[in-house]
Amino acid sequence: MSERTLVLIKPDAVRRGLIGQILARYERKGLSIVAMDQRTIDPTLSDAHYAEHVEKPFYPALREFVTGGPLVALVLEGDQAIDVVRAMNGATDGRKAAPGTIRGDLALSNSENLVHASDSADAAKRELDLWFPGL
Ligand code: PPS
Repeated sequence: MSERTLVLIKPDAVRRGLIGQILARYERKGLSIVAMDQRTIDPTLSDAHYAEHVEKPFYPALREFVTGGPLVALVLEGDQAIDVVRAMNGATDGRKAAPGTIRGDLALSNSENLVHASDSADAAKRELDLWFPGL
């Protein structure tokens, strides 16, 4: 079943010049880029996006990181795109993510881990509405 998911290529990936490499992986897989926008977000959008984490001890560092430079927000579409993209991204902690995944190959951190993707159909709907209203 074709699905849409929200992906963020986070500021560390932009800073490291990895946008093209990361996009190429999604494209090679067969996913379609439905929308894409480079932007620097403010704390309000960060708080809304990470609503379930705002009370967690790591959140202030996460907010500073994600608002600290440009990121690329994109909507990917394809068969079972939500689970497919999560698998391609790999485990949250780049030190533990499997080789072959984006984080496993390119990240060595739990916080600067290059990419975000919606983790369920409900999260995808909420995040797509937040980042690309009206799409
Ligand atoms: S939890 O508590 O298990 O639900 O959190 P988790 O799924 O591991 O992580 C949720 C997002 O928070 C980021 N994260 C961090 N950022 C900064 N510093 C620390 N210590 C940290 N720990 C977790 C993590 O990268 C996840 O970001 P997204 O964008 O959702 O992948």
